[in-house]
Amino acid sequence: MTTVNLDWATLGFSYIQTHCHIQYTWKDGKWDEGKLVESPYIPIHIAAAALHYGQEAFEGMKAFRQKNGDVVLFRPQENAKRMYNTAERICMAPVPPEMFIDACRRVIKANADYIPPYGTGGSLYIRPLLFGSAPQIGVAPAKEYTFIVLVTPVGAYYKGGLQPVKAIVIDHYDRAAPMGTGHVKCGGNYGASLAAHVEAAKAGYPVELYLDAKTHTYIEEFSTSNFLGITKDGKYVTPDSPSVLPSVTNMTLCQVAADMGMPVERRPIDFEKEIDGFAEVAACGTAVVVTPVSSIERNGVVHKTGPETGCGPTLEKLYHAVQGIQYGELPDTHNWNLKIEV
Ligand code: COI
Repeated sequence: MTTVNLDWATLGFSYIQTHCHIQYTWKDGKWDEGKLVESPYIPIHIAAAALHYGQEAFEGMKAFRQKNGDVVLFRPQENAKRMYNTAERICMAPVPPEMFIDACRRVIKANADYIPPYGTGGSLYIRPLLFGSAPQIGVAPAKEYTFIVLVTPVGAYYKGGLQPVKAIVIDHYDRAAPMGTGHVKCGGNYGASLAAHVEAAKAGYPVELYLDAKTHTYIEEFSTSNFLGITKDGKYVTPDSPSVLPSVTNMTLCQVAADMGMPVERRPIDFEKEIDGFAEVAACGTAVVVTPVSSIERNGVVHKTGPETGCGPTLEKLYHAVQGIQYGELPDTHNWNLKIEV
């Protein structure tokens, strides 16, 4: 195993240039064979549909170097499926799942020396990107699409790893309308969240929590990740809503919790009635993994949702169970890891 010379222990969640990305074009009804490209810049038409009308989708996955030296990609089939669904919602040429996974294999292999060594806590973040690249001045789906997979080595999304963050509900912003695009991963959802994010950060909160757009009663999700709560009587509860992104990490944690014998409930969660009933709350997603949330403020009232330092015992158990599977320390009983030959 060879690796590039990076300070693996201090990696955060920011872009680091690697050897190459992979790029495919869809034209005249079909995808080309794809090619590895060294330059991180792409020439793009000034009238490209993605630039003007946000016809764009992305995904996030991680590849891990395991204890025995193997390299694995975690549950890529789920991300392939989700990107397919996003493409259909945004009227783009979908990427066939086999091509999606092959693209990941090729780009990971070509950048294998950027995969953080086992024991550093890092991983290689995989970012597939699909967008309308043909000129399109009238509002309509583009006639050409570009699919890219770029990779970059990452550590913790929030400084400190399993250290808790404080969240805030900002009631004058919504994330996604009930019949909108909240359930798919298009860039527009994230662009629309930036104002709330900046406002939360200015007030000293690294994370903002959204309630349902129609009634502002039920918990939806954090700006970059799903919501999960552990009730004082030990149940795993996560929102059921048509406008929440189906998080692969949340899906994984639900299964791991069920495997541990915990009751798992996916249902509407009434913020005011239920928030004080949680012993632990976390934001979960590929990038943030499991990030404990120690308190959530709404309208000046601070609700304590976990320990002020460190992580509650149930979240800690879940976190280590998932990371244990990813790093090859625990058996992968559900076959979630896809081995990549590097
Ligand atoms: C991920 O968790 O991979 C995501 O795509 C969230 C991202 C906005 C950082």
